[in-house]
Amino acid sequence: MKSIRIACAATCLGIAALAVQGAASAQSEPYKVFDTRPVITDGPYLSALSDTAVSVVWMTDAPSHAKVRLHDGDSVREIEPQVDGLVPVGQRHVVTIKGLAPGRRYTYEAVATRVVKLKPYWPDKGFSTSSPAAAFTTFDPQQGKISFSVVTDTHEDTARIGRLMKLIDWPGTDALVHLGDAFHWLDSEEQLWAKWLRPTVAALGPGKPLLFARGNHELRGAFARELAGYIPSPEGRYYYSRAMGPVHLLVIDTAEDKPDDTNVYAQLNRTQPYREDELAWLRAEVSGNRHLAKAPFRVVAMHQADWGSLADQGAAWTALANQAGVDLVIAGHEHEFSYHAPDKVHAYHQLILGQDQLARVDATERTLTVKVTTDKGAPVHTLTIPVRR
Ligand SMILES: [Fe+2]
Repeated sequence: MKSIRIACAATCLGIAALAVQGAASAQSEPYKVFDTRPVITDGPYLSALSDTAVSVVWMTDAPSHAKVRLHDGDSVREIEPQVDGLVPVGQRHVVTIKGLAPGRRYTYEAVATRVVKLKPYWPDKGFSTSSPAAAFTTFDPQQGKISFSVVTDTHEDTARIGRLMKLIDWPGTDALVHLGDAFHWLDSEEQLWAKWLRPTVAALGPGKPLLFARGNHELRGAFARELAGYIPSPEGRYYYSRAMGPVHLLVIDTAEDKPDDTNVYAQLNRTQPYREDELAWLRAEVSGNRHLAKAPFRVVAMHQADWGSLADQGAAWTALANQAGVDLVIAGHEHEFSYHAPDKVHAYHQLILGQDQLARVDATERTLTVKVTTDKGAPVHTLTIPVRR
């Protein structure tokens, strides 16, 4: 293998010398490097940040491979993804960084290197582009307070997204939580960017994370199966938990709002086994997660407040939430505000956020406060929950 490579490399250097347009450094490479570099067209942004990991996403105008250059104080490391041993080449880039320290500030650059043509040997390459350095801070399970902003059911209305994003106190918010139904249905990548991600990422910037709880409308349309690639989580699924100081946040995927055998789905949905897996995960989380057990507050963020379309009407999930000591469920789906105090069935507060509303959640070790305002900033409701113990 080595001799073939050397022999051919010598041949290719001659070709490279002809092909390269004014790139002196390229002549030392055994493959062609054209004088072209990708343009970052969208992002980078942070998806599903945790206390130890994050997924960085961005787009380029042309096929490229990607890495993140991560600065931790004076040390630098590069994180380069691989799938089955191959470096992904495309226009959408996802780099998941694991092994981060909780509550730590990092800076990063998203780097994309142009791949002009994929060939079996010596693919044609181009040069690299880096995003400006940006900073983020991982969640800290030990920190004494947390603040996050919540929107829901934006349903492709970019003016609505713009009004809500403008209302957010970005310096004072640690994360944006979207409770789903960003779309009517998913058709294409361009729709995904134009109707949701582009105006959202413009407000988030490269340093504030987006946490997304999938809505029922996100399971519909020709592009629905691709959505996870744009809002990836380090866990590789839509449901997960986050240790955010005094809040243990459970992000639940409530999936569709009708049973799988409903004719509109034409036998293409299998949410029942999916939800069983999710419930098993939640059981393990409730019985085994130390931060969940000792955090002052447990908050569930999900699209449908009744846990979605389930044979038992969500009874097993409600029982588990009661057992876990969930303090608050914050949900959407209804498109208008309502609040339900704890009752005989639900041992937790339920707050349904309206379509043109912003919820700001602030928690300390003693108090959890949710302030809901309209998209014009007028107060709708304030909920204050004292710590139980
Ligand atoms: Fe919905």
